[in-house]
Amino acid sequence: MKKETIQPAKYLNGAVELPGDKSISHRYAMLAALAEGTSELRHFSAAADCHSTLDCMSALGADVRVAKDSVRITGRGPHGLKTSWRALDAGNSGTTMRLLAGILAGQNFSSKLTGDDSLQRRPMKRVISPLREMGADIRGRDDNFAPLEIHGTKLRAIDYKMPMASAQVKSAVLFAGLFADGVTSVTEPARTRDHTELALEEFGVTVEKNGQTIRVHGLSGGNGSGKLAAKSLDLPGDLSSAVFFVAAASLFPDSNVLIHNVGLNPTRTAILDVFAEMGASIQMLGLKSSQGEIIGDLAVKGASLKGGVIAGARIPLVIDELPMLAALGPLTEDGIEIRDAGELRAKESDRIAALAENLRRMDAKVEERPDGLKVEGRHAGKLRGAEIAPRGDHRIAMAFAVAGLAAEGKTVIRDADCAGVSFPTFFAELNRLTER
Ligand code: S3P
Repeated sequence: MKKETIQPAKYLNGAVELPGDKSISHRYAMLAALAEGTSELRHFSAAADCHSTLDCMSALGADVRVAKDSVRITGRGPHGLKTSWRALDAGNSGTTMRLLAGILAGQNFSSKLTGDDSLQRRPMKRVISPLREMGADIRGRDDNFAPLEIHGTKLRAIDYKMPMASAQVKSAVLFAGLFADGVTSVTEPARTRDHTELALEEFGVTVEKNGQTIRVHGLSGGNGSGKLAAKSLDLPGDLSSAVFFVAAASLFPDSNVLIHNVGLNPTRTAILDVFAEMGASIQMLGLKSSQGEIIGDLAVKGASLKGGVIAGARIPLVIDELPMLAALGPLTEDGIEIRDAGELRAKESDRIAALAENLRRMDAKVEERPDGLKVEGRHAGKLRGAEIAPRGDHRIAMAFAVAGLAAEGKTVIRDADCAGVSFPTFFAELNRLTER
């Protein structure tokens, strides 16, 4: 397994373009496979996760052609998928497994859905329960874990009040709703990313929103047009990847970084508000709207970060960026405290434990709690370069690579290839922008 060595930096300088948004890529790929005709998805994510989705859709009968970051997917309509003779492999990707479970529940064939060791430890009951309410026949190990066996059937519409704020659960139910009779609704307890709603509309499905409730019509009756239209779409760069560069640039007064073409959907930008509140210098430039999504450039300059507390309804909106925030803690004035984020323990790794362990390896002062952690700021002492164990988790690897830029001495990231789960060129790009 490859190690990456991070040497202390003077500052970051230059322009960078990021891989296409991971969340949007999954959704466009799945919907393109359910549409009739050929869709073209430009600037599709390079993430291994999204390529797991492409492999699954291909195994289910869609014609998938990849040329660099352009993907052409030809589907045969919502009822055109066919059974896969082998188990569908979602790799490390929770989004692939949970969203696809919604689609597979409504097919007229059976499927087996599996993933890597990490994914086989992640909870699936959260999608199994609502899909079962819709009439789905799904079995999992201990009724909660992959591999999942899904025996597709005709589904019934439900009104689902989600017990947790999860875009993946919302999306699984809405996708299943396409294959149900009548109108399926999902009510969220707190706002989560709305890429599924926007992508459904983009592919021609009517979606109604009322407060925290989203409704979708089954494709086979009522208001549903019965079809999804193939589309030619451009994807924005991934804000969750951009955040590593926002953080890295912010750490050094002389930094000047321009991040091109970033997705700035308001259900994703809470992290930029958090950075701004901490004193970061971030400007959004050239905002435009495309396919329901907002896109723009981010200009980031160096700053002195104050730190702060992140908690409550904000947590689901910044869930993927919490590792970066926590790893910045010792480099901020007041430190970082994260509360109400027990969900972090159910991600690609137990991120609370992984953060606490690796922060301590770097000599930071950390209190680990069931639902978060408290990381002391600069007053608790200097951050020291160390060997980091990312536990196979891409966001832990990248977060500590950034912290390492501002540590004393070198930091070695073990198993650094895991960054490819979302951002295969991360280390090369970080190195290119770093002045030493
Ligand atoms: C995602 C939703 C979030 C996020 C994940 C991607 C999505 O998960 O952590 O990386 O694309 O819907 P949850 O919905 O489980 O919180």
